[in-house]
Amino acid sequence: MDQERQSFYITTPIYYVNAKPHLGTAYTTLLTDARARFERIDGQDVHFLTGSDEHGEKIAKSAAKHDMSPQQWTDYMVPAFHELWEKLNISNDDFIRTTEERHTKAVQYFLEKLKDSGYLYKSSYDGWYCIPEETYFTETQVRHHNEAEGDAEAHKCPDCGRDLVRVEEDSWFFKLSEFQDKLLKHYEEHPEFIQPEIRRNEVLSFVRGGLNDLSISRTSFDWGIPLSFDDEHVTYVWVDALINYLTAVGYGNPDMQENLHKRWPANMHVIGKDIIRFHCVIWPAMLMALDLPLPKSVFVHGFLLVKGEKMSKSRGNAIDPLDLLNIFGVDAYRYYFLTDVSHGQDGSISLERMAQVYNADLANSWGNLCSRALNMSAKYFDGKTPQLDAEEIAKTTVLSSKAEKMYEPYAEAIRKMDFGEAAHIVLDLIDAANLYIEQMAPWSLAKSEATQGELAFVIYNILESIRIAAYYYMPFMPETSKEVLSRLSLEPDFSKGLQDLTQWGQLKQGADVQKGEALFPRLDVEKIELGN
Ligand code: MSP
Repeated sequence: MDQERQSFYITTPIYYVNAKPHLGTAYTTLLTDARARFERIDGQDVHFLTGSDEHGEKIAKSAAKHDMSPQQWTDYMVPAFHELWEKLNISNDDFIRTTEERHTKAVQYFLEKLKDSGYLYKSSYDGWYCIPEETYFTETQVRHHNEAEGDAEAHKCPDCGRDLVRVEEDSWFFKLSEFQDKLLKHYEEHPEFIQPEIRRNEVLSFVRGGLNDLSISRTSFDWGIPLSFDDEHVTYVWVDALINYLTAVGYGNPDMQENLHKRWPANMHVIGKDIIRFHCVIWPAMLMALDLPLPKSVFVHGFLLVKGEKMSKSRGNAIDPLDLLNIFGVDAYRYYFLTDVSHGQDGSISLERMAQVYNADLANSWGNLCSRALNMSAKYFDGKTPQLDAEEIAKTTVLSSKAEKMYEPYAEAIRKMDFGEAAHIVLDLIDAANLYIEQMAPWSLAKSEATQGELAFVIYNILESIRIAAYYYMPFMPETSKEVLSRLSLEPDFSKGLQDLTQWGQLKQGADVQKGEALFPRLDVEKIELGN
């Protein structure tokens, strides 16, 4: 396995730090983490990047509102992100801040190259701008949208509906319009580049409609990375932000060329559907302009909805992730968001549903299986796992044959970022093991000397199923999986790859078994309340 370890570089968007992280940003980060964890236990050499997007007009304005300099403001806000990622057990290898020197240097270097390539020209921008979205809109886009909304005179953002501002300033432009054909060709030749399919179609039709050149610098404020060749200008925040994916692996840094070569192109950028054009149109065009390889894929997820509406502070329906963590604990939080939001689509979330999933899948199925099996093993085998000979271990049962068929469909689901499907495959083994307990009734076998051999066989099969399920649940619930394995006196060994780790018959025999506390005590749905 070891000689095949390949680099797997995966990223989240870098989040604006004008507000604290919320369920939505946590969702993207969680999806990315679960994929990174899968690749790690599957033996890949993972590099997982997240970070903060700290420049631009929006941040400058919220800093002013709080009577702080933008740098003070971002320094003040960033720890809330570290804190939440720690609480959610996010396993990122790096956290990039766009105000770091390594990033300033990389952005300046990238833009110098872009200028040398002939794809930049100086002109002036006169049009509309949405500060909350940090996005430019043309006169026509704004008119079409506002006419469709029934108010032709209005100047509302076509994406978020908030007021636009008029911007007139000198600017450098990137010749994005020249990349239409090249982009279309790339989408054609690499159908896996934009996932899932519905988002790919959305990008295709957008790009087929034609592309405008993009203003990549601002002159009416200064909270950004100055252009090295024209220091009245600061870099447009989106161009600055996208380059983070390169900075973090060593772009523009002579001491990190080997690392850059190893890590780039990224295997996957994980993003929400709101920022698809930046990642699937502008970013690949920027890379093409410099002849740099494009990321292998962009996975686009939908939005979390609360009572059918996009969750947001202004709507007053935002739920604080910390409240949910207090009620459910980290692994149940992770499990719910990873499994119950439909793959790639918008997903409604609610406290009631979260409690329901917790009780059904975690308390009644997984937690219950573990506590029954560990208790029986402790009780009938003197605090140890049973011992069997090799021939018995190799005997096929409903559980071993299920377990042996899990890896391929499970890995395929995870590679598609369909964590609901992957978890379903694990739950199927757990349900089968619970049913097996009922059918085999170990408590009856325990009553007679004559059936001790059979009892050992049955308990072995159940514990072995638990061992295997714990490995498969690791990307979802890393702490619980570690705990379950340790109760079986096992230490996870990641050097072998998941398929080897989950081969039937590797339970340690005659090893100490800890009964431990209930992993997921049942929740009384009526009694659950949010903190505020
Ligand atoms: N700073 C830019 C990204 C730059 S990446 C080079 C940005 N930041 S953001 O803080 O607004 O985060 C946007 C991301 O947060 C979305 O793409 C999505 O991943 C996540 N979400 C924000 N609200 C969300 C929901 N309601 N539901 C799910 N995810 C959402 O854009």
